[in-house]
Amino acid sequence: MARTRADVMVLYNALSEEGYDQLKHVDPATLGFEPEYDIVVPTVSEEYEAIVQALSGEGFRVRPLNLLDDVKQLERVVRRNRPDVVFNLVESFRDDAELESAVPAFLDLYGVPYTGAPPLALSMCRRKGLTKRILQSHDVPTPRFLSLWKPKVAVRHGLKYPLIVKPAREDASAGVDAASVVTDRAQLLARLEHMFTEFQPPILVEEFIEGRELHVGVFGNDPPEALPPLEYDFSELPEGEPSIISYAAKWNPLAEVFHRVGTHCPAPLTKRLEKRVREVCIKAYQLMGCRDYARLDIRISRDNHPYVLEINPNPDLTEGVSFMESAEADGHTFGEMLATIVELALERRPLASGLNPTPLPDMTSA
Ligand SMILES: Nc1ncnc2c1ncn2[C@@H]1O[C@H](COP(=O)(O)OP(=O)(O)OP(=O)(O)O)[C@@H](O)[C@H]1O
Ligand SMILES: [Mg+2]
Repeated sequence: MARTRADVMVLYNALSEEGYDQLKHVDPATLGFEPEYDIVVPTVSEEYEAIVQALSGEGFRVRPLNLLDDVKQLERVVRRNRPDVVFNLVESFRDDAELESAVPAFLDLYGVPYTGAPPLALSMCRRKGLTKRILQSHDVPTPRFLSLWKPKVAVRHGLKYPLIVKPAREDASAGVDAASVVTDRAQLLARLEHMFTEFQPPILVEEFIEGRELHVGVFGNDPPEALPPLEYDFSELPEGEPSIISYAAKWNPLAEVFHRVGTHCPAPLTKRLEKRVREVCIKAYQLMGCRDYARLDIRISRDNHPYVLEINPNPDLTEGVSFMESAEADGHTFGEMLATIVELALERRPLASGLNPTPLPDMTSA
């Protein structure tokens, strides 16, 4: 394929692959239910390797680099080993997700272009309460909520049950399980006690939107485009399990719920609802300063109104996972979508490379 042959560094930070090997020794017959999907899931390194391979297949020169929590490696990259662009897949540093945004900030200081969101968007979207307040103030619908710093809540809190209790600054469905959805005050107080012992405040208490769940991939900048919405299918969940993507449903192949939540894409939506969903998602993406690609998690209420649950800048790009499933439903192969993201970042190549035709503004008269 006739690409620019740009030099792409696929940058990630993966330390432990614990747990994956164990799965190889599990006999599915001992699970007590019929698994729908493979129990042996790809390791993070295998996922990054697939991205490296796919980008090479698109004609780029590709080098992977695992930071292994060593900031000196990053210094070497910017001083001696500069790629044309970094494919930034770093999600945390020293096991601290707050430091996710420090990596692109470092690259910004050295003028190295990278894929995905800038530091501010990464930091803001990690704060779900702040994100929701920004959305509300721009009339982007998001479930009504309280942000709590103590496990106390007024009797007249003004929210309508059922509610969902979740950490405000986690992702990957951490802290979300069947007991997260509460239907009365006693359950709410019990869950708050539990959450405050397990997670750092603030904790969000949010109106639970009963209805359908969509993941919407958005990509591009000028202007961004929404991919076909992907819908989660909860119809096979065991009796009594709430229709949510819990931690186990997302990550634990040994749990029955993992095998009972399916997806289909494109989601069957009326033209009008799909248009509304796309508009809401693009507006939220722009408001939060997302760039190149992101995934928005949406619930549709029973009366057909979309609500933004949260925004994921730099979402998982594993083949077959929601962003890529939507891209493929839209006719982009895995490799093409990755290449598009690289090209978007390459447009930000600094002037010094001689490739950016935009002249610098005249600052002398300012
Ligand atoms: N207000 C809500 N109404 C209905 N379901 C909700 C609500 N908030 C969260 N959920 C359910 O919980 C899941 C996880 O919530 P959320 O997306 O906020 O957490 P997360 O940890 O950021 O997830 P991710 O894995 O997408 O990063 C959602 O996908 C959805 O199924
Ligand atoms: Mg989510």
